[in-house]
Order: sequence, then structure tokens, then C-alpha cells
Amino acid sequence: MKPGTTPTPDTWFVDNEANWDDRADLHMGGGYSGIDGLIADKSAISNELAQDLARFGDLSGKDVIHLQCHLGTDTIGFARRGANRVVGVDLSANSLRDARNIADAAGLSVEYVHANVYDARAAVEGDFDLVYTSLGVLCWLPDIDRWARTVASLLKPGGAFFIRDDHPMFMTIWDIGDDAPDDLLVKQSYFQQVHPLTWEDEGSYADAPGAPRIKRTTNHQWNHSLAEIITALIRAGLVIDVVEETPFSAWCAWPHLMVQEADGRWRLRDNPERLPLQFVIEAHKN
Ligand SMILES: C[S@@+](CC[C@H](N)C(=O)[O-])C[C@H]1O[C@@H](n2cnc3c(N)ncnc32)[C@H](O)[C@@H]1O
Repeated sequence: MKPGTTPTPDTWFVDNEANWDDRADLHMGGGYSGIDGLIADKSAISNELAQDLARFGDLSGKDVIHLQCHLGTDTIGFARRGANRVVGVDLSANSLRDARNIADAAGLSVEYVHANVYDARAAVEGDFDLVYTSLGVLCWLPDIDRWARTVASLLKPGGAFFIRDDHPMFMTIWDIGDDAPDDLLVKQSYFQQVHPLTWEDEGSYADAPGAPRIKRTTNHQWNHSLAEIITALIRAGLVIDVVEETPFSAWCAWPHLMVQEADGRWRLRDNPERLPLQFVIEAHKN
């Protein structure tokens, strides 16, 4: 962001789309390891999806939509597990180009739709048995009530909604610096703010030596408290079935303070019970 300029709603999504197009190139250039294995092994499911797959029961004959699907590394798992129709929606055209290539190479049928999540209802025909979204999603959305209404509008009666995401309390402190002491300073707002936090990032949460740098660095993010998220889903007409908070993260925010478990998840090395790093919500539409 140029000094002295304030991002406006017109530019939020334009900047974020450009930033995510560059991130897709970075991730395909080495940031997301394991894509070749996911294509080659016809039974492979991404770690992110595998940890939750049992919650969804038998997927055969089910229609599934994955909001903010990025490269589709989780999305293809629904097709692999026999879902009838699988749709992935994302703001980034480069992400969807790569997602289509990955699904084609894996021989799987997935419809990828280029749309802002807020426009998903207009962009996609039909209703769904499962709306799925996970890991790094709500921080890109300014209006959580509008998002919850979109989720509800995509569900069939009896359909299920699932989200696993970074915990908003984790988001208040992740930017404390690479050499921060272990006292985890709260720096950012916990509660939703009208104005985004605007960042300039050349790298990504999933990076690799030699991967292309992000050129369109400006990106805008929002934090939403757990109560705001739950209340938005209730207001949108959904019934909340499960709320979980976990001391595990999918990514390493502070290499000197975190350790990786055998299953790939990260937790604080000392006293991990201090801080929730992810939350899960399961809900359904009556
Ligand atoms: C962190 S990624 C999700 C990652 C996914 N869990 C994975 O492991 O691949 C966030 C995704 O949200 C998308 N996104 C950001 N803002 C969006 C919006 N307003 N509408 C739709 N997609 C959006 C980005 O393009 C990006 O692909």
C-alpha cells in the first residue's frame, strides 16, 4: 500500500485476488509439496481433509461444495471418496487454473468456479449436501454475516456445513516476530473491525527455497471472534452441532516456539494448553 493511501472496499478484493494469483504460483513452484504424490496415488487424501473425512460419513451420491478451495488439494478428496458432484469456488483464477490441472492429472471430475465467495450462490446452480471450507479462509472476508447467509443459501434442507480454520485468538498474536520471546504478545484485534489489516507479503505460509516471490504483495485481512462466527451461522438459520477448539495448527507461526507432531500438525512446544490455534464448527440446515 502506498504511504498515505487507505484501502477501500473496491480495492480489497482486487488486491487480494492479485495477491492470491501470485501465491498460487509460489505454491505450485514448491510451496505446496506433495501435489505429485496426491496425483499419483489414486487413493491419496490430503492431510487437511483426511483429519475430518470421517465426520462426513458416506459421501457416495452426495453433492459437495468447497468454498475458497485454492489449488483443490482438499477438493479432489471428495471426488475420490465417491461424491456425486464436487464444486470448488475461489477468487483466484490462477489457483483454479492449477486446481483444474491437478484434478485432470488425477483423473477426477471437479467443477471449479471463479467467484468471490459472496457471489457463490449466483455463480453456482443447485443446492448441496455438504458445504466445506477450511484453513485460512475467514481472515479474507470482511463481512461474516453475509458469508454465513451465503453458506446457508447453498445448503439443501438437512445439508451439513463444516469449517476448520485458524482460531481468531491465534490471529491476534501470530505477527509477533520471528524471534519473539515465549510470552505471546497480543497485537491485533480479536473482534471484527470495519477496516482490514493491510499487509505486504513477498512470501507465504507455505514457502520453499527457489519458489517465485509474490510481486503483488498487498493483501487485506480481517479477524472475526468465535462468537461472531457462531452467531452469524445461527442468524443465517443453521443449527450448530459441534464447536471445537484445538491446540494444533496446520502451519508453523514461530519456528523457535513450536514443534511438529508426527501427523504434521504444529503445537506450542511449552504449555500448548495456553492457546487455541484452530477451531472447528459443524452445523446443519433444518
Ligand atoms: C489459505 S487458502 C485456502 C487454503 C486451503 N485450505 C488449502 O489448503 O489449499 C485461501 C483461499 O481463499 C481464496 N479467497 C480469498 N478471498 C476470497 C473470496 N473473497 N472469495 C473466494 N475465495 C477467496 C484465495 O484465493 C485462496 O485460494
